[in-house]
Amino acid sequence: MAGNWKMYKSAAETTQFFEKFAPLVRASSHCEIVICPVYVSLPAAVAAAEGSNVQIGAQDLYWEKEGAYTGEVSGPMIKAVGCSHVIIGHSERRQYFGETNDWVLKKTRAALESGLTPIVCVGETLSEREAGRTDAVLTEQFQQGIGGLSPEEFAGIVIAYEPVWAIGTGRTATPEIAEDAHRVIRGLVKVRFGTEAADAVRVLYGGSVKPDNVKNLMAQPDIDGALVGGASLKPDSFAAIVNF
Ligand code: PGA
Repeated sequence: MAGNWKMYKSAAETTQFFEKFAPLVRASSHCEIVICPVYVSLPAAVAAAEGSNVQIGAQDLYWEKEGAYTGEVSGPMIKAVGCSHVIIGHSERRQYFGETNDWVLKKTRAALESGLTPIVCVGETLSEREAGRTDAVLTEQFQQGIGGLSPEEFAGIVIAYEPVWAIGTGRTATPEIAEDAHRVIRGLVKVRFGTEAADAVRVLYGGSVKPDNVKNLMAQPDIDGALVGGASLKPDSFAAIVNF
């Protein structure tokens, strides 16, 4: 269960969140819990989560280790601050910052090389869905992105299916629509990496996950977890999702 805080919460607000959130999930051992704050709040999050069952992730990275890349942050730097995870290829990165499948592959490799678990996002836009292109888009994103990993590399990643039309819109995919897409993704994994890899990989659903819809989504056989934006910003609502 991962929370993507997007561009919300200063370091002080992050500390406040953990004071309330950590006790609410202290006994939750059925899943891994990850929170992904903005870069400048990562040290506060790592400090606040110390000794708890909550892990911390970044929302992006750049694939070079260091260099003249103004504004960027590398995998080793994120690892050094105490993170375990990093989100890669979120649709907002693809949409507003021009990230391509090729970049997603490079960033995923860089994350793995840095000892971070990448949470790699795929998903179709509304117009792509309405044009009946959902499976084609997922296939393209897979084949041009994480399909390029070696089997050993692939074993280290988590996938998130995030239909763009369901993100921040309050329009959740029905459990059936989400399950269909998850099945397509698992099928792609099976063809490229084999049955064992397809069974083992965790595929999270993201897009307006809330305390009142998480249970039905999680009941689907191919949905293994959730990547939560808006509802991860409040301690009680994210705890309710974790403890569905
Ligand atoms: P949302 O965001 O839960 O606010 O729809 C999900 C995401 O973008 O990861």
